[in-house]
Amino acid sequence: MVGKLKDLLGKMDGVFLTSPHSLRYFTGFSGGEGVALIGKTEKFLFVDSRYTEAAKNEAKNFTVIEFGSGTRTKEIGRRMTDLNIKRLGYEEAELTVADYHGFQKGLPDAEWVGCSRELTGLRMVKTEEELQALRTAEQIGVDAFLAVLPQIRVGMTENELAAELEYQMRKRGSEGTSFETIAISGKKTSMPHGRPDDKKLEPGDFVTMDFGCRYRGYCSDMTRTVVLGKASEEQKKIYETVKHAQGAGLSAIRAGVMGKEADGMARAVIADAGYGNYFGHSLGHGVGLQIHELPNLSPMSETVLQPGMVVTCEPGIYIPDLGGVRIEDMVCVTQNGYENLTLLSKELLEL
Ligand code: GLY
Ligand code: MN
Repeated sequence: MVGKLKDLLGKMDGVFLTSPHSLRYFTGFSGGEGVALIGKTEKFLFVDSRYTEAAKNEAKNFTVIEFGSGTRTKEIGRRMTDLNIKRLGYEEAELTVADYHGFQKGLPDAEWVGCSRELTGLRMVKTEEELQALRTAEQIGVDAFLAVLPQIRVGMTENELAAELEYQMRKRGSEGTSFETIAISGKKTSMPHGRPDDKKLEPGDFVTMDFGCRYRGYCSDMTRTVVLGKASEEQKKIYETVKHAQGAGLSAIRAGVMGKEADGMARAVIADAGYGNYFGHSLGHGVGLQIHELPNLSPMSETVLQPGMVVTCEPGIYIPDLGGVRIEDMVCVTQNGYENLTLLSKELLEL
């Protein structure tokens, strides 16, 4: 997708890429570790010997340069000088301070211009090929969840539950998790990003599972909350409120709507039910090569949704000392609504 850099290269003499997702998206190289220097006429990809063969296979439009121990900065600096770069776009959100200072030595007189947000923005609208990868990734998650459901029982630990989800995804083609699996129970579900440990699942627990995998580099993300045994009236009220909020958020999603409008629709349902103080995070986020990318569905987001953007819709209610519920689907924005990639019921499951 290096062609997408055309506008940016109208304003810069070169673009310097260092993050795994930018390298994959703009060069095709999936190895993760490398540096790309894209000028108006020439394109270089610098890797060490672990990745040379893969880089040559995957980054067909690039001149691959293998650097040796301690020669990376020198090799890159030489090409920067050859390209006569005066203004260089780089990923300020993705570079360590140490690397930034190191690379700058190769081109000390140039203006280095942070372009992270612009580069991320170029990845917001997905191609059909990317959508296929995202659909498959999400389906792997759904199938893994359905395989794990019958195994959830009193006495199982949260760690066992997390491991089972990850194992079932891997068996179905996952390349790895897209973030640290959340499988938490009981009062711990009041922590939106609580971590699984050796706590055993107990009767009456809410059990929240928020997990995802990678497929062809693309991330999946879904959350379901179930109750172990019979749900109390309060648990039912919390669950149904989140379910309605999720429905309200989804019903707002379509091309032309701002992120904050969808967030507001879901947030209002939770506030009207009296739980307004217990939903602190945003309604959703973009998903692609990164688990969290643009656009955001947050109270601040004025990004206008476009067909082909993929976002999550994941409201929650989290009450300390009691527990919490989150329900999350991943959807692709269409002209008149959305395509739900999470093909799974949201009825309350009492296991
Ligand atoms: N599902 C994890 C997150 O969105 O942060
Ligand atoms: Mn999410």
